[in-house]
Amino acid sequence: MSRINVMKPWLGAEEADTVAEVIISSWDALGPRVAAFEAAFAEAMRFEHAVATSNCTTALHLALVVAGVRHGDDVVVPSFSFIATTHPPTYVGDAPLAVADVDPLASNVKAEPIGRALTGKTTAVIFDDQGGAPVDIDSVWEMCDPRGIILMEDAACESGSTGKGCPFGVGAGVGAWSVHPRRLLVTGGGGTLTPRNEERATRVRRLREHSMNVWAKNRADSVLAPAEEYLEVGYHYRMTDLQAAIGIVQLGRVNEIVARRREIVAINTPRLSQIPGLRPVRDPAWGEGIFQSIWVDIAPGLGATRGEVLGAGALADSSAHRGIMSSDRQPVYRGIDTEVASLAFCERLSDNTLILPVLHQMTDEEQSRVIGAACSGSGGPGRPMVLVILVAETGLAREVAAAIADHETRLVISSLDDGTAKPVSTIDGIEVFGAIGDVVVFPTEHPLVCVGHRAAGQRIVAQLGALSVGSARYATVVDRTARVIGSSSVGRGNARLAGVVMTASASIGAHVAAIPGLVLSHDDAVAECATFVARVALGANVPVGRAAHLSRNASARALSAIGWGVTIGMAAAVLGDIPDAEARVSVPVQPIERTG
Ligand SMILES: Cc1ncc(COP(=O)(O)O)c(C=O)c1O
Repeated sequence: MSRINVMKPWLGAEEADTVAEVIISSWDALGPRVAAFEAAFAEAMRFEHAVATSNCTTALHLALVVAGVRHGDDVVVPSFSFIATTHPPTYVGDAPLAVADVDPLASNVKAEPIGRALTGKTTAVIFDDQGGAPVDIDSVWEMCDPRGIILMEDAACESGSTGKGCPFGVGAGVGAWSVHPRRLLVTGGGGTLTPRNEERATRVRRLREHSMNVWAKNRADSVLAPAEEYLEVGYHYRMTDLQAAIGIVQLGRVNEIVARRREIVAINTPRLSQIPGLRPVRDPAWGEGIFQSIWVDIAPGLGATRGEVLGAGALADSSAHRGIMSSDRQPVYRGIDTEVASLAFCERLSDNTLILPVLHQMTDEEQSRVIGAACSGSGGPGRPMVLVILVAETGLAREVAAAIADHETRLVISSLDDGTAKPVSTIDGIEVFGAIGDVVVFPTEHPLVCVGHRAAGQRIVAQLGALSVGSARYATVVDRTARVIGSSSVGRGNARLAGVVMTASASIGAHVAAIPGLVLSHDDAVAECATFVARVALGANVPVGRAAHLSRNASARALSAIGWGVTIGMAAAVLGDIPDAEARVSVPVQPIERTG
């Protein structure tokens, strides 16, 4: 069994031949190939200007220098990134950093958290496309550009991604790219800067060569080198011709490399998605990534820790890594003035994500070994989870927490009355984390939604709507004091909340979740896929469709008709549309006398 590493560049005979040519030519550095690489990069990625550098970190540094960022300015960076995104602002006059949180689903920065981190002194925002997943640049641009804030893309992982059908990165004011061995394109180390205008490109070209006003290529082209001058303090940030020559060959392979990676991901991620609690990061709506790795988010409900999943990979000789770091937690930046209330998503993703290898040369056996180890390490199907969104004063939150404590609930999402993410760690022993946006992060789970008052309810419905979670997946919110009166009907996907009373002839659509205190009286009709937790009472003549789950202390009166596919009893799973023969019943399916 051969070791599968997280990185293995795809380099072949063509790269070896081109390196040999460079060596024979004697121009191993300061020669013509750097200029040829810059032209090839600009053409492949559709930029007007590309300036090759020694690596992406130095490219970011030069981007800040030519943008005029200096001591006294604020620079916003994502906390959730390799440390190389965070260091460069400290090189330019120790510009203070403000770190921004990320989107829990796209796992990348987005406009809103960046907006919260901006101050009157912010002159630049650096964002990065983590793992090669493109950022929603347009929204960030719309926020920064009118304020004169320069938008810098740390595109270290990004070569080959597309946004709205175009090569990615054209939206930023300037992009910094990496060709380090972990990347899609590799040259043995190197970087490129793509400034928007000629003036900046010329200055960067100078600055990377000690600020000499004659470009190395021009000196190489002449027998008698023109005398050069040094116009300002410069740096030694050059790419070599050996690196550039490899880069030119690699640029010719971009489409092939991207297609192969996307194919490996498309074949293998469905197996991971079948495990509740594992979420492979996918393409966002606005672009297509290059999948530097298969990046997996582990929900607390998985039933296995990240360490256990990584350990299973190690036993199969498949090397996986923990996911991306949060730089504000590193000793060097601990205590940094974050300017933002919460980095909850960054920190959760840092603690709960891992990356699995995607290598161009992977065999079917190797792909299967990587994915098989991750699946077995995660403990198979895992326990079903119920997501509960609590938008409530503490009293109702406790009531709901107590009601679900006996059940399969492993994950509670908290979004308190003001609708912002203010996670607390537990409510009566049940884990609480995240915010309403996390509903979409765990696509196989069915959230219950509880609200404390009508206004909050409407807002949450709007938020859920904005998240485009289908009606089969989420619950409509009903105020705890609501009375659903005779002949009313409530559509699909409804949660009836604590204290709601339904009177005669009300009907509730499919995918119903009912939590404490609900009373359904005679002739109420409940369609398929219902969940009734503690102290829900069904009055007489309440027909309940298929796939219901009645948990402890829920009761149904005589003549209530409960359909097929019903699970009754404590700690039973909420089953979907199961056929008759597969119904799992822990007590006989028949009308039950009301107990209380
Ligand atoms: C997001 C990000 N930015 C920047 C860098 C630095 O790239 P380089 O090694 O080319 O300086 C890395 C390297 O891993 C990275 O992951």
